[in-house]
Amino acid sequence: MRITLSTLQSMRERGEKFAMLTAYDYPTARIAAAAGVHSLLVGDSMGNVVLGHTTTREVPLEFMLVLSEAVRRGAPEVFLVGDVPFEAMRSAKATQAAARRFVASGCDAVKIECAQSDVDTVRAIAAEGVVVIAHLGLRPQQVVSPDGYRAQARDAAGIAALVADARAMAEAGAKMILLEAVPDEAGAAVVAAVGVPVVGCGAGPACDGFVVVTPDMLGWSEGRPPRFVPVLADVRGEAVRGMRAYVEAIAKREYPGPQHSYALRGGDAPKGSP
Ligand code: KIV
Repeated sequence: MRITLSTLQSMRERGEKFAMLTAYDYPTARIAAAAGVHSLLVGDSMGNVVLGHTTTREVPLEFMLVLSEAVRRGAPEVFLVGDVPFEAMRSAKATQAAARRFVASGCDAVKIECAQSDVDTVRAIAAEGVVVIAHLGLRPQQVVSPDGYRAQARDAAGIAALVADARAMAEAGAKMILLEAVPDEAGAAVVAAVGVPVVGCGAGPACDGFVVVTPDMLGWSEGRPPRFVPVLADVRGEAVRGMRAYVEAIAKREYPGPQHSYALRGGDAPKGSP
């Protein structure tokens, strides 16, 4: 069954939590769909985990659009979200144009890392009928070095400002809020303040849905993921074991074996063949 914004809105209203993950390719989308993930985010975290950059700022919009189409092919029924990259945040017009292109690539919504100054951009995009998710709290596109990722809204004034931003975005037409790296209390305050689903990425248990970077959660990435990520598999370990076994099978001449070979038609070898 196709998952829509109203599915997620109804889940919030019934107090049911939903699962969002990042996906950057067709096979991951297939796996997520088979696992019952409600929503996939073609996140600009691909700058780190796919392209190997130290920040998310280098991801080309064109590349994200191609991958959004691949993820949609893999998971036709999920609520698919395209992440407007830094490149497209240079002006309101560029952000609006990028939002339209994500929708044309099969996305149900776009996520925008927002400051107060982006309220009019959110309003303009929402007025075109595009579902906007306003990303507040830690905004990785503002981070320029690997040690710059810091939790936000860690005191009463910070929480009040976050709640004001979330209300302003919802009033401008954002249909969901995403909160990254804020205390549980900040997450709970935003959930209480707005009527739209709130997705937490390290924002405590009160949020309506939760998102993490899939390679971090699957133990695929190297190094330690952020504290809020549950590491639930060892894909990297399993992949290293598999690739090592392949290298060894070749070195020992166990691969390729007879089961990997094509037989000649008719059984006759051409003259001169070994
Ligand atoms: O790009 C991304 O993966 C994100 C999530 C961390 C929320 O923005």
